[in-house]
Amino acid sequence: MTGSSGLVGTALLKYLTKEGYSVSLLKRSKVLAANEFFWDPSRGEIDKLALKGIDVVVHLAGEPIAQRWSSSAKKRIVNSRVNGTRLLAETIAQSQVLPSLICASGANYYGDQHEGVADESSPSGIGFLAEVCRKWESAANPAIEAGVRVVFMRTGIVLSGYGGALAKMLPFFKLGVGGRIGHGWQKMSWISLPDLVSAYVFAMENLAVHGAVNAVAPEQVTNSKFTKTLGKVLGRPTVFPLPASLVKILFGEMGKETLLCNLGVLPKSLTDLGFEWQQAELEIALKHTLS
Ligand SMILES: NC(=O)c1ccc[n+]([C@@H]2O[C@H](COP(=O)([O-])OP(=O)(O)OC[C@H]3O[C@@H](n4cnc5c(N)ncnc54)[C@H](OP(=O)(O)O)[C@@H]3O)[C@@H](O)[C@H]2O)c1
Repeated sequence: MTGSSGLVGTALLKYLTKEGYSVSLLKRSKVLAANEFFWDPSRGEIDKLALKGIDVVVHLAGEPIAQRWSSSAKKRIVNSRVNGTRLLAETIAQSQVLPSLICASGANYYGDQHEGVADESSPSGIGFLAEVCRKWESAANPAIEAGVRVVFMRTGIVLSGYGGALAKMLPFFKLGVGGRIGHGWQKMSWISLPDLVSAYVFAMENLAVHGAVNAVAPEQVTNSKFTKTLGKVLGRPTVFPLPASLVKILFGEMGKETLLCNLGVLPKSLTDLGFEWQQAELEIALKHTLS
């Protein structure tokens, strides 16, 4: 597993360890524990022993998206994903026994949906994040060409009280100064952290899963509905809207593509494959997340 110290990696590692899986970690630090191996995607360095006897590689690593997108930040966001994915894909392709590659990606692959909703057959959209996702996924081509089973987990907003978008909103909502963002009609595609962990395990275990998989809950909501539901779960008013103009000033292009973008994405592949969500509805997911 790469990116094991992150929001998703920490939860997935905890689950896999509890269930008795044997997990090796690729770390960028040179101080390594027994099950850890060194890699530095920026220098193209990887300890190939990490892949010996491995059934599945789960690749989560990447520079955080939630920061101001200066030109140097944009380079880090793209390069960390492209270099890391290509290095893994090339290393896997040279292995004697080919492990599957389950690679994180984003629901932003589809860009702003305006009126409609996207499923896995929809084309990629416009914008920086859509471009990041295209380059990220294309970097896995050496593995695909070698016949490796590759899965791209096009993930929506992951709900957690400890990190990611929800954790950043919570202090404002808890103080009663939260509200819708912009006009609030934009659709948000989300997934609870336990369901995302289950979706990763489903993709690891189920050889029928391959290619793009939208890792989102079946219920997409508008930002207004998300805001009202969060307020209801917290027992707080949500009467302070954050105007689109202020989002653009505070967060720049990042705010436009993440907070104001209409991202209606359906999990067609997971549904067709029989995946069962534990928290398919937002209110249930938020209650569970914040309990
Ligand atoms: N959370 C979400 O809402 C969400 C939504 C859509 C897509 N995703 C994608 O899913 C993946 C996992 O998400 P997450 O929320 O767990 O991410 P995260 O908390 O930001 O963790 C990502 C991990 O990547 C590694 N990393 C950070 N900067 C790096 C760099 N410059 N180069 C190489 N590795 C770097 C770190 O792990 P180590 O220190 O262990 O190397 C870090 O813990 C990410 O690729 C993310 O873009 C997440």
